[in-house]
Amino acid sequence: MDEKIIKWGILGTGGIASTFAKDLAFAKNAERTAVGSRTKESATKFAESHDVSRAYGSYDELLQDSDVDAIYVATPHPFHKENVLACLRAGKAVLCEKPFTVNSRELEEMIQYARENKLFLMEAMWTRFLPPIVKVREWIASGEIGDVLLVKADFGFRAPWDPEWRLLNPALGGGALLDAGIYPVSFASMILGTNPEKILSTAHIGETGVDEQFSIIMSYPSGKTATLNGAIRVGLTNEAYIHGTEGYIRVPSFLSAKSATLYKNGEEVETFKDDRNSAGYAFEIEEVGKCLSQGLVESSVIPLDESLEIMKIMDQIRAQWGLKYPFE
Ligand SMILES: NC(=O)c1ccc[n+]([C@@H]2O[C@H](COP(=O)([O-])OP(=O)(O)OC[C@H]3O[C@@H](n4cnc5c(N)ncnc54)[C@H](OP(=O)(O)O)[C@@H]3O)[C@@H](O)[C@H]2O)c1
Repeated sequence: MDEKIIKWGILGTGGIASTFAKDLAFAKNAERTAVGSRTKESATKFAESHDVSRAYGSYDELLQDSDVDAIYVATPHPFHKENVLACLRAGKAVLCEKPFTVNSRELEEMIQYARENKLFLMEAMWTRFLPPIVKVREWIASGEIGDVLLVKADFGFRAPWDPEWRLLNPALGGGALLDAGIYPVSFASMILGTNPEKILSTAHIGETGVDEQFSIIMSYPSGKTATLNGAIRVGLTNEAYIHGTEGYIRVPSFLSAKSATLYKNGEEVETFKDDRNSAGYAFEIEEVGKCLSQGLVESSVIPLDESLEIMKIMDQIRAQWGLKYPFE
């Protein structure tokens, strides 16, 4: 069956929207059709920089463009629910940035609407589609490291001190867990499943009222464990390790992985390298296109039920810290 070329609309013109627009050019089944911004000026500038055909000075106009098949939502997380529901109501397929929403209640609403109306919806958990991560899952499935018993994953960086910026601003859903922590939590879910028996966690809540760094230990049936760290004021190694009874796998910079190495008896057995030219977002873009060509309303790689379970874990962790956002 011939794959459809998906006409993409981009909602929001910030940092990640720009990276995504560049990667659309690397995806085999995608076209950069339109962009919508709160201001015409920003939309026009973005369209010129990224070779996007149409620029709209409001999100509504983007949604009304009948040529657009799929919309990529790239606004700060507290606006994801409103923006995604508006896209779905306009009948569009939606790829929404991580974290999918601020909490599981918001996500339930989105999923319910998408399912009732048989519309495609996916969390932009791009890490899952990177070739080294696909390879890691193959190694595990073929028993290369035996029974997987322990996962370690960190993601942290030192963001500049700007209390108004979305990373530190509670009104914009700031904090390490939602922005950075979603990666290690989703990684643990991918390897060990969505049902930890116990979650222990601690966080440092900084002066703006959001978590600046955290540590999590999760335990699963049969004694399996995950240890996860995240931060927005200190750089971490950003590595992931998966340990099994017969060996282990190391994934440097796991969230944007370009390689993965398999070890047995402490020795390197194989390193998988990805020499891609794209930043790595082209793979999730192609997945959306494949799903739409096949008439699917969700991806089996990051199913909606799993995204929801992950968001429930994030809710539980935040509840342990007593961290609520002003809009919740
Ligand atoms: N997948 C990844 O690797 C990755 C990387 C970074 C961020 N993200 C996620 O992507 C989302 C956006 O992050 P970003 O770093 O691109 O943010 P950003 O640079 O601040 O851009 C966000 C954009 O959202 C729009 N927006 C709508 N209402 C807004 C408001 N009240 N305040 C600020 N912006 C508003 C703006 O676009 P207009 O002015 O054009 O309307 C703005 O440019 C977040 O959910 C984040 O977690 C993902």
